[in-house]
Amino acid sequence: KQKEASAMLTAHELAAKWYHYILLNTEQGKHALEYLRSRGLSDKWLDFFQIGYAPAMKDKLFQFLLKRELPQTLLEKAGLIVERSDGSGFVDRFRDRIIFPIHDYKGRVIAFAGRALGDLQPKYLNSPETPLFNKSRQLFNLHHARPAIRKSGHAVLFEGYMDVIKAWEAGVVNGMATMGTALTQEHALALRRLADRVVICYDGDRAGQTAAYKSLPILEKAGLQVRVAYIPDGADPDEYITARGADKFRSEVLDYAMSAVQFRLTYIRSNFNFKDKNDTVRYLKAAARIIAEISSPIEREHHVKALSDEFSYPVEAIKQEMNEFRQQFL
Ligand code: CTP
Ligand code: MN
Ligand code: MN
Ligand code: MN
Ligand code: MN
Repeated sequence: KQKEASAMLTAHELAAKWYHYILLNTEQGKHALEYLRSRGLSDKWLDFFQIGYAPAMKDKLFQFLLKRELPQTLLEKAGLIVERSDGSGFVDRFRDRIIFPIHDYKGRVIAFAGRALGDLQPKYLNSPETPLFNKSRQLFNLHHARPAIRKSGHAVLFEGYMDVIKAWEAGVVNGMATMGTALTQEHALALRRLADRVVICYDGDRAGQTAAYKSLPILEKAGLQVRVAYIPDGADPDEYITARGADKFRSEVLDYAMSAVQFRLTYIRSNFNFKDKNDTVRYLKAAARIIAEISSPIEREHHVKALSDEFSYPVEAIKQEMNEFRQQFL
């Protein structure tokens, strides 16, 4: 078992080096390199994140690793090769894809994410679950971000690999992302060991906001203080940084992250039609319940007042709704 794990690590390390070499030094890697440069990644960061390219060939990596005396069964178990359904043998899992290596907290390569060039589907293909790689535990970039998170107690959680990478380029060195899966309690607990505060900075589109709404209680349950940053116009952090620059990303997005309550109040709005009187009342009720969860009386007062002002609705009624909820459920 021990031996198998260490051979798998070796296979990943060799594969990462090989993909990286293909990207930077070969004719086949040229279009991938141009693509990455067009997305604003300079060689310095391609190197830092060990980004690579898996060529559009059947089993080049497989052949390379066989020569290094890594057996087929091990490579299959490591998720680097897959058996063809017609029984004609094994081929490389990743073909014609940009490769993002996934590292464990010690910085060892344990899996890969492969991004299609252009609009081919699926956009991302990840390593399967293996003895080395467990998606529901793994955070992308944790090994780089760990020292900064430890030092400041503060982490940023992104949705995608490119967001983490572009944010890092922009000087945000405490960013991580999940691996194309929803955030789990295990992720949150792993984070809690390093940080006490987290900013969720997911994509500004509907899917991203819904994911943020779902991640919020998971992080809170782990004992983290959570705020939520919003990227305008449905963009993602990568697009925002490319369009508006690093300084604006920090000063206008991250520094303006909403409190958890503010985010919840904002998020649920899309479920209500404020032209409808009944719906407005339903929103006020839902909002009063969100506010009821705040432990500070002053903060509760502040939010009640804001709702009252916005909807020209009596403070007393909102407050009573809130207090009844507090007495019943908290
Ligand atoms: N994802 C995935 N499989 C897909 C699509 C997405 O695993 N088919 C995961 C990846 O981890 C990806 C994240 O979900 O980074 C966010 O998806 P999306 O916003 O669509 O991709 P981006 O990260 O914005 O990628 P890019 O900028 O390269 O388009
Ligand atoms: Mn290099
Ligand atoms: Mn997205
Ligand atoms: Mn995105
Ligand atoms: Mn993107």
